[in-house]
Amino acid sequence: MMRLQIFIGGLLFLLPLFARSQSIHLEQRVDSLLGLMTLEEKVGQLHQISSDFAATGPITHEGEKQDRVRQGKVGSYLNVTGAERTRSLQSIAMQSRLKIPLLFAQDVIHGYRTIFPLPLAEAASWDLKAIEQSARIAATEAAAVGIHWTFAPMVDISRDPRWGRVMEGAGEDTYLGSLIAAARVKGFQGKGLGSLDAVMACAKHFAAYGAAEGGRDYNTTDMSLRRLHEVYLPPFKAAADAGVASFMNSFNDISGIPATAHAYLQRTLLKGDWNFKGLVVSDWGSIGEMINHGYATDTADAAKKAIVAGSDIDMESRAYVGQLIDLVKRKEIPESVIDEAVRRVLRKKFQLGLFDDPYRFSDEAREKAVWNDPAHRKAAREMAKKSIVLLKNEPIKSTGKPLLPLAADKKIALIGPLVKAIGDNNGFWSYSWPDDSVRIVSLWKGMENKLGSAKNLIYAKGCELSGTDTLGFAAARTAARQADIVVVSVGEAGNMSGEAKSRSEIRLPGLQEQLVRELVATGKPVVVLISAGRPLVFNWIADNAPAILYTWWLGTEAGNAIAEVLFGDYNPSGKLPMTFPRSEGQIPIYYNHFNTGRPFKSDSDNIYVTAYTDLPNSPLYPFGYGLSYTMFEYGKIELSADTMTAGGSIKAKVKVKNTGSYAGEEVVQLYIQDVAASLVRPVRELKAFEKIRLMSGETIEVAFTITEKELAFYREDLRLAAESGRFHVFVGGNSQATEQAIFHLK
Ligand code: NOJ
Repeated sequence: MMRLQIFIGGLLFLLPLFARSQSIHLEQRVDSLLGLMTLEEKVGQLHQISSDFAATGPITHEGEKQDRVRQGKVGSYLNVTGAERTRSLQSIAMQSRLKIPLLFAQDVIHGYRTIFPLPLAEAASWDLKAIEQSARIAATEAAAVGIHWTFAPMVDISRDPRWGRVMEGAGEDTYLGSLIAAARVKGFQGKGLGSLDAVMACAKHFAAYGAAEGGRDYNTTDMSLRRLHEVYLPPFKAAADAGVASFMNSFNDISGIPATAHAYLQRTLLKGDWNFKGLVVSDWGSIGEMINHGYATDTADAAKKAIVAGSDIDMESRAYVGQLIDLVKRKEIPESVIDEAVRRVLRKKFQLGLFDDPYRFSDEAREKAVWNDPAHRKAAREMAKKSIVLLKNEPIKSTGKPLLPLAADKKIALIGPLVKAIGDNNGFWSYSWPDDSVRIVSLWKGMENKLGSAKNLIYAKGCELSGTDTLGFAAARTAARQADIVVVSVGEAGNMSGEAKSRSEIRLPGLQEQLVRELVATGKPVVVLISAGRPLVFNWIADNAPAILYTWWLGTEAGNAIAEVLFGDYNPSGKLPMTFPRSEGQIPIYYNHFNTGRPFKSDSDNIYVTAYTDLPNSPLYPFGYGLSYTMFEYGKIELSADTMTAGGSIKAKVKVKNTGSYAGEEVVQLYIQDVAASLVRPVRELKAFEKIRLMSGETIEVAFTITEKELAFYREDLRLAAESGRFHVFVGGNSQATEQAIFHLK
């Protein structure tokens, strides 16, 4: 035994040496290949084109593409679907002089064959293991068809629900967003590049894309370096630390410099301070778009600025392939700049094992095997249940009890334009497959599955998703009157959020709110299900409907998951990853704002404070909020000490009791406020959380360790450090938690 330990110990000691020799070996392979390449072939590696499937911008003509691949003038391809197609394109690359394999990339954002909830919905689970697992499954399915690289996760923090792309991220909070970024990277990359079920992940969009002015996609951002470091960059750093293989820059400019040509971000920070060895890809056409920005005079200027600033691959601008050779010949850029970018691309191709077998991922048999794996659907259903947020659940007159969960023997009217929706359930950034109509579980189907038949269900559409037609209202009222309970399903269409889907008003489209009013007016108890890719504004419903579930877009298993939550087979545990405003006028709205010199106080009638004259400052629902069918009571926070010394730590303990009659899960959240500092600090910031499960009547003590790391912030010189002084600690079930304790850092 002893011997064995010594032997293993010896091997462990050798591991770093082994890793080092592996990487030296890798660098040698990269360098020797680079040495054989012509300038044209090098530039080819930096050129990425799309097949015409799922294009989000103007694309290169199909005819030219294969010739270019054959000439070794294309390095990567996006949007090629299926093992057969990736294999056949790869075989064209194998006809090129140096037989450098293509990389196949795709936006596998929340599932590939099995669609998982929108990333924002998954963030509402606060369940990092489950989130990692969902990316793992997406990678397994994508890798089997020959995809090497996903353009995910999007790790942009956003405080603006008008921005259509909030559906694709983890919401507004930097801490939660950073943990989720790392979980997703680990999920996509699995055991590491080279494993047959792993894809390269891509942290995007670097950076500050989520801060687009007015929530309008592709728009300008302008902010201090401090805010950039404090709010927007940490999830990127977390992705880099988790070993993400690539970064994508963004369409926006940041204080006047387009992200695509941002040398500070890409060279100084990412490739310098963070020592990132992976590759950086531009966003679609973003190099050429620098001419529109007014930052480049022409394509040559754009190409030069982008490559010099550290953008390695040009996605669909055709600026690199058209300009870099001349730029080098004219000595406007040294060839070493090109070499550095090409090295990054080749390194990944070697790591993926493509030089050993360029077809190793394009495997029809594996594609078939993973295509309908029931375990994937099961995981998608679990994730969907965890993503649902219970916003309201009031007692109703007839029973004196909360409306949810529903009893299975009731007659239920299922009303609304989304009850029988199929494709919408997948939301934006998903793929349609020929058998979608039987695979995707609509709400109607899910209810039928759950109840064993539709005999206790009545259906009425009520109205369309948009438009002004009230013709269906009468039938909807009749259906409601015939039932014991009404479940109304309203929201956005599945493609109303996502890229280029900014909205200036984020209300329910069309007459859907009016439909809910009509149903509430029948006097029947109404459960409102809201499906959307962003926080919506729905004050009347929040005030007047007894029960509301926020169901986002939940993917392939949506209907089954919702039915299980409605009937209490699953007790909802989701917590909002974004603040829900009362009005678009409150945006940007986020919980970790500054106090200002004139904070609003509800117990004072001084009007000269930061406030609206026509609306409270408070949101409709705060960040971190979400109810359960049971109730949780928080005890007082107990701190292990009232003073922390430099380098020391403090424990914050709190007892949480399940005082209701169901078992349930609660996300216990810890927030900290630095009361006075050399720079103004937010009123509170999420610093830790734990998701616990408690049986009815059970009490669990949750303990958090607070160290200087939780107290540190980016100071004026952008150094991350804590300052001595007073700190407030809050623990509770959402960002408005009132349980408070105080300590000092010496
Ligand atoms: C543009 C989007 O901004 C980006 O996120 C995506 O990966 C590319 N198009 C490729 O589809």
